[in-house]
Amino acid sequence: MRATFIGPPGAGKGTQAMMAAKTLGIPHLSTGDLLREEVQHASKLGLEAQGYMKAGKLVPDSLVLAVLRARLARPDATRGFILDGYPRNLDQAKELERMVALDRAIYFEVNIEELVTRLVERRTCATCHRVYNRKTQPPRVPDVCDDDGSALVHRPDDNREAVTTRFEVYQKETAPLLSYYQRQGILRTIPAMGSVKDIQVRVLSEMR
Ligand code: AP5
Repeated sequence: MRATFIGPPGAGKGTQAMMAAKTLGIPHLSTGDLLREEVQHASKLGLEAQGYMKAGKLVPDSLVLAVLRARLARPDATRGFILDGYPRNLDQAKELERMVALDRAIYFEVNIEELVTRLVERRTCATCHRVYNRKTQPPRVPDVCDDDGSALVHRPDDNREAVTTRFEVYQKETAPLLSYYQRQGILRTIPAMGSVKDIQVRVLSEMR
């Protein structure tokens, strides 16, 4: 299974991709996580990307493609994968097709109005990238990851200003991918409001 998850910021793509990847035994490839690792290591690519990310804008295609290409070349990705955050525009979709064919594009249909609060309350494990929410999915101990005891961090782009830009970018650049994948016959739409467990059942039923 080679799938990509599409939806606006905060739709739950990362939360669901991490769970589905574990169940299906394939890697979860998040370009956001890969780019944040580059920023954390202060690599040349990370230093170039960080300004765009903090402002909620798309990182230039060439930089994202470089991290994705390197990740897809690792042996675990030959079994299949779940892409989360790529492609983000039509040019990226075409670049991806030159490397690999997708079996599914899963669209997370959500109420955008509810997502700002979700994002402002999100906290993420700096080590394993598990996603929490201070209101809806809190860790057992505040600000500590249940799985590995690392500190949870608040993403610098999870503030109201950057979130507004991220929604605008999504509508303009990413939403056109829905009709693109619809035409290819691989788009599946899942209602993505409700409990994380119920949504996971819907996601998995579209990936079998
Ligand atoms: P990226 O990391 O991809 O962020 P995003 O697309 O904005 O998506 P999010 O991670 O914000 O949301 P999500 O849908 O994964 O939600 P989550 O599961 O975490 O990209 C960040 C930046 O990197 C971009 O702005 C750009 O600069 C750059 N970038 C990345 N890829 C790029 C590309 N291809 N090209 C160019 N630039 C790129 O959940 C959100 C919150 O909601 C959490 O707190 C969670 O606990 C909670 N939650 C989840 N599900 C539920 C539920 N069912 N009910 C209640 N709460 C829930």
